[in-house]
Amino acid sequence: MYKIWKKKSLTQLLAEASDDEKGLKKTLSATSLVALGIGAIIGAGLFSLTGIAASDNAGPAVVYSFILAALGCAFAGLCYAEFASMIPVAGSAYTYSYATMGEFIAWIIGWDLVLEYALGAATVAVSWSQYVTKFLHQLGIDLPNSLLHGPWDESAGIINLPAIIIVCLLSLLLIRGTKESAFLNNLLVVLKVTVVLVFIALGWGFINSANHTPFIPVNEGESMVSAGKMSFMEFFKSDYFGHYGWSGILRGAGVVFFAFIGFDAVSTAAQEAKNPQKGMPIGIIGSLVICTILYVLFAYVLTGLENYLNFKGDASPVTTAFAKTGYTFLNSALTIAIIAGYTSVMLVMLMGQSRVFYSMSTDGLLPKFFSDLHHKNRTPWKTNIVFMIFVSLFAGFVPVTDLGHMVSIGTLFAFCLVCIGVIVMRKSNPNAVRGFKVPFVPLLPIIGVIVCVGLMIGLPIESWERLAIWLVIGLAIYFFYGMRNSKLNKN
Ligand code: ALA
Repeated sequence: MYKIWKKKSLTQLLAEASDDEKGLKKTLSATSLVALGIGAIIGAGLFSLTGIAASDNAGPAVVYSFILAALGCAFAGLCYAEFASMIPVAGSAYTYSYATMGEFIAWIIGWDLVLEYALGAATVAVSWSQYVTKFLHQLGIDLPNSLLHGPWDESAGIINLPAIIIVCLLSLLLIRGTKESAFLNNLLVVLKVTVVLVFIALGWGFINSANHTPFIPVNEGESMVSAGKMSFMEFFKSDYFGHYGWSGILRGAGVVFFAFIGFDAVSTAAQEAKNPQKGMPIGIIGSLVICTILYVLFAYVLTGLENYLNFKGDASPVTTAFAKTGYTFLNSALTIAIIAGYTSVMLVMLMGQSRVFYSMSTDGLLPKFFSDLHHKNRTPWKTNIVFMIFVSLFAGFVPVTDLGHMVSIGTLFAFCLVCIGVIVMRKSNPNAVRGFKVPFVPLLPIIGVIVCVGLMIGLPIESWERLAIWLVIGLAIYFFYGMRNSKLNKN
């Protein structure tokens, strides 16, 4: 008899962690954890999707979209902080749900995290490719369009070759066992944050207030609903929904939510934190707060420099907008820093992905193949290769907007489950030691779920369909393989 709701006990989890991860040193201070968070957070979401969300959805009010998305993350962030300070173990959301809601939900979350990490890496790779292309263009090197875009991109090509190349290079680097040292990460973070600060500081003086007027572009559908000419349901189903106005801000929030993804990566480093009880909450919440402030200012300046409509289909709006300042000679430096920043995001995402599949495989939910370690480098190299191919296919052929939506919906879904997990854990293990406690439980986690579901509703219906298809594939694998081979069930 299979017990798909069977849970791992807290004691078992902590014991497994001390077995598996003996080698990990507790070296990360709270500051390094904040830097790690920012390292994984700032990337394509800010440098590419801000322009797309402004042109397609919110206009200059993309600033509000950022605030809304940050709110959604804040609730989930608090819940992650409680778990990470309580179960300082690798595996993040997958591990938390194994302990709180049982194997079946853990499987769903683990499977769903592929959307966050693997497709997240693919999205950033596409965006990376756009910036590299622009940079090469500045150097007088132009690659043919057919090798820069997938067949379904707006300016259709055959394949996005640079995106595939960077995914392969980083995967091979991971196989070699290259670890992103705190030092390197701090360096990249300084570089990235400097770019954002320079952009805000220099751009501020060139803001053209005409570009900010109206700040919230009119949505005709919303006007028709207020005039009683259209029902809300008709509006919701129509093409008006999500294109400007308040519904546009909501959908824009679902899109730029991508820019916050990565703060949960801090929780995967829980085992390496010097003092996880204090460090994890500071790392998670601290990086979120800093990024929110930077994002809001950045979006304000970006939409002030150039009319939002001119960012349509432009995945490198920073250079487009910066052309409006007198400092265009800084363009190359900006581009190099952005490219370096993207690289760290991709590395963390690809690493996180292999880590999740590694954990699922050691639990028996996936074939042993995925946890086989390289004899010399001790990296899960077979998983790295599988995901190198998987991520390359997405990066090479799928348009960046579709990818971004799928990553957002997958992550939001995981956040919902983590919020629910906190409530469940408070009931099932009320006396466990918690270094950090979410205030007002169950109220805040419930609000977290509501906000995340709200952001999910703001995303196009196709992303829901794709999420459903992905989960159905996952369920089939679980019932045919995972459930039968689960070590917890066998024991
Ligand atoms: N937040 C990360 C980025 O925007 C995924 O690139």
